Amino acid sequence: MDEPLVLGIETSCDETGIGLVRGGRLLADVVASSVDEHARFGGVVPEVASRAHLEAMVPTLEEACRRAGVRLADVDAVAVTSGPGLAGALLVGVAAAKALALGLGVPLYAVNHLSAHVAVDVVEHGPLPEPTMALLVSGGHSNLLLVPDVTQEVRSLGATIDDAAGEAFDKVARVLGLPFPGGPHIDRAAREGSVTIDFPRGLTSGRDLERHRFDFSFSGLKTAVARWVQAREQAPVADVAASFQEAVVDVLTRKAVMACREHGVGDLMLGGGVAANSRLRALAEERCTDAGIRLRVPRPPLCTDNGAMVAALGDLMVRAGREPSSLDAPADSSMPVEQVRA
Ligand code: KG4
Ligand code: ZN
Repeated sequence: MDEPLVLGIETSCDETGIGLVRGGRLLADVVASSVDEHARFGGVVPEVASRAHLEAMVPTLEEACRRAGVRLADVDAVAVTSGPGLAGALLVGVAAAKALALGLGVPLYAVNHLSAHVAVDVVEHGPLPEPTMALLVSGGHSNLLLVPDVTQEVRSLGATIDDAAGEAFDKVARVLGLPFPGGPHIDRAAREGSVTIDFPRGLTSGRDLERHRFDFSFSGLKTAVARWVQAREQAPVADVAASFQEAVVDVLTRKAVMACREHGVGDLMLGGGVAANSRLRALAEERCTDAGIRLRVPRPPLCTDNGAMVAALGDLMVRAGREPSSLDAPADSSMPVEQVRA
């Protein structure tokens, strides 16, 4: 009870997340998602997301306090996602966080969404080894990060040069007539199929690999799948799903392991919604074991966007004595990957 109670607020995309963490322990993690409201558009509609955050903010906050058995007045610090993300959506969270910090008279930590994805594993598997390698893959990001200290130093080794990994899953699902968001549907369909089609692995050989050693590209793959399907009267959905999925997870795990080897890092963590993918988890496990790398993957609800990750990062910052943000910290939709705090 001596340790500070940290509240975390996440509103960068379509999840309103509120988390409460004390001394590296997760007390509550409540998420209100507007994903169903976006499904018929086949992607997240920013204005719809912002309005949903506004409506969900207070009830989600109250529910998190109730589940943790704490009162708002007990909160010692407020952390919030400052960016990157959808501008209007971020603004709702940042405004709420500032109001709470000001009203409660506690410090504000306006933090980077990607660093928070990394920090969340502390509440699941304990302190992060320093450095840790992090592969973050979701509908909005695909990043390979070298993390010497998640509270203040994050180095970007590579990122997607076009579509995010989850975006590729969602677009290919659409081609195959599967619902949005497509990742879980492709994952499920793939289990019934086999890897029979050799789809391209972007940026994995020759000059491309030299110039983009730790970068990713999924847009060529997406196009290749669409062409393959269009050229056939009836595509074998399960086999296409399995072959596409294999191409994505092959590249992701290959580059992540390569990055660990080349930077002498012995620990790899996976995060983001795509880290829920069963084949990605299995192949990462296999390749890490072969390479003598320890793998950390938070449980799926902590991989997707949530408030616990923001609270987890805020908690680490408070305990490390890091400087809080100023009350005029921005909602920064294009916050640089390496900037941990605004
Ligand atoms: O982290 P997240 O909830 O939101 C952001 O995009 O930030 O990730 C959602 C993405 C979607 O693209 C979804 O299709 C993908 O994660 N996803 C998966 C799986 N579950 C979710 N992709 C592949 N396999 C899955 N099992
Ligand atoms: Zn995310």
